[in-house]
Amino acid sequence: MLRFVTSNENKFREARDIMAAHGIEIGWIKEGYTEVQADTIEEVVRESLKIIPYEDVFIEDSGIFIRALGGFPGVYSAYVENTIKNPGILKLMEGVEDRRAEFVSVIGVSGEDKVFKGVVKGNIAHSIRGEGGFGYDPIFIPEGREKTFAEDPEYKSQVSHRRRALDEFVRYLSE
Ligand code: IMP
Repeated sequence: MLRFVTSNENKFREARDIMAAHGIEIGWIKEGYTEVQADTIEEVVRESLKIIPYEDVFIEDSGIFIRALGGFPGVYSAYVENTIKNPGILKLMEGVEDRRAEFVSVIGVSGEDKVFKGVVKGNIAHSIRGEGGFGYDPIFIPEGREKTFAEDPEYKSQVSHRRRALDEFVRYLSE
């Protein structure tokens, strides 16, 4: 059985449910790993896979890229989430009209060079809204909608960056 290496239970649950909908059962290695610092999420995934001592596993790395901030926090999303958090992001965005942002998710699998990417576009909200989801979900409004991902987790599960990356991954696995 393919196993997902992540210490993030929210990520594991999302992946498990999405894969189950495709008839694929996955296992969980509930462990963190040192994320290799790199300029892109793809590179973080490729380099991190090299130091993970397991076979038949996949990892996923993600981030939120805010256009008006030059793509920040991007590959530093986890760090920012642990430091200035959503209120800090909203502060940086005060008075900023261009609220465009995108979530990116990249999945890599042990023993393969190929990675699977998913993107969802949206906007940064003006306030923190909603109880669902995790991380930046309360400040992210997907394109064409009014509610944040945290206010509408059901919609998130249909269109999220992770959903899209997992769909690509599943397509590859079933080829
Ligand atoms: P990493 O992929 O574990 O490096 O996490 C990147 C950062 O982005 C973490 O702070 C997560 O909380 C955040 N993040 C990743 N995916 C999502 C998501 O689906 N919603 C909200 N925040 C997310």
